[in-house]
Amino acid sequence: MLKIEALRKAFGQGSNNEKLALAEVNLSLQEGEFVTIIGGNGAGKSTLLNCISGVYEIDEGRITLDSVDITFDPEYKRSRHIGRVFQDPLRGTAYDMTIEENLAIAFAKGKSVGLRPGVAKNDTALFKERLELLDLGLENRIKQKVGLLSGGQRQALTLLMATIVKPKLLLLDEHTAALDPTIARKVLNLTRKIVAEEKLCTLMITHNMKASLEFGTRTIMMHEGKIMMDLQGQERSNMTVDRLIEQFEKRSGAELDNDRMLLS
Ligand SMILES: Nc1ncnc2c1ncn2[C@@H]1O[C@H](COP(=O)(O)OP(=O)(O)O)[C@@H](O)[C@H]1O
Ligand SMILES: [Mg+2]
Repeated sequence: MLKIEALRKAFGQGSNNEKLALAEVNLSLQEGEFVTIIGGNGAGKSTLLNCISGVYEIDEGRITLDSVDITFDPEYKRSRHIGRVFQDPLRGTAYDMTIEENLAIAFAKGKSVGLRPGVAKNDTALFKERLELLDLGLENRIKQKVGLLSGGQRQALTLLMATIVKPKLLLLDEHTAALDPTIARKVLNLTRKIVAEEKLCTLMITHNMKASLEFGTRTIMMHEGKIMMDLQGQERSNMTVDRLIEQFEKRSGAELDNDRMLLS
């Protein structure tokens, strides 16, 4: 499904503050796999997702999606097959457009005509049906501007938009980190529901170690641009947050710098 081979990415090459963000990352994802990614600040988690989606050109390595080499494809081309949700609720939606218009733009991604500003009647029915999934009452507010929604509602909507045309791959970069805990949990549960229903191949970065074990089918821990732990199956089901921290400190020789990861 997704195959990353010997991926290397440095920033500021040749300068004094050259930073090797990804040292040598190898990762293969099977159909329908839901991988959670954890690691301290600066471990390379976001860079990995940015390399996969084509935000950054990579220095070395190869990225294959569904047996197609996408290593040199531009971001816009990859975005047809890759859905993304970021941490910032303001980023994924157009605040000055209605809920319905936002969904229409996302829905048009699957059609060859490009952006279509109009909303067809039967599309509205589909949008309402999808919005009902969220259980936030947004299906009754489709003519309202997105700027009126709370952060959690916007993230839930962004998630719908990222998946309304089934992507080959869904990338989530701490998409609940800016939300208060109750809403964050709701959006996480919603994520689980959509991923399961659509059988989406998903990479989800989370700062929450508990959530990293609770959600998904596999957990990867990154440190200094490398994958230092890859948990699945029985080993993962037996894992606890305490043991995860212990393993991290043993393998990295470092203390977890990220207080956020230990909270909630
Ligand atoms: N655009 C950039 N320019 C320069 N350095 C960057 C850039 N993006 C990330 N980095 C550096 O690469 C390293 C990995 O960053 P990042 O992938 O954002 O970490 P994480 O998401 O795990 O916290 C960090 O040292 C960071 O400062
Ligand atoms: Mg990050």
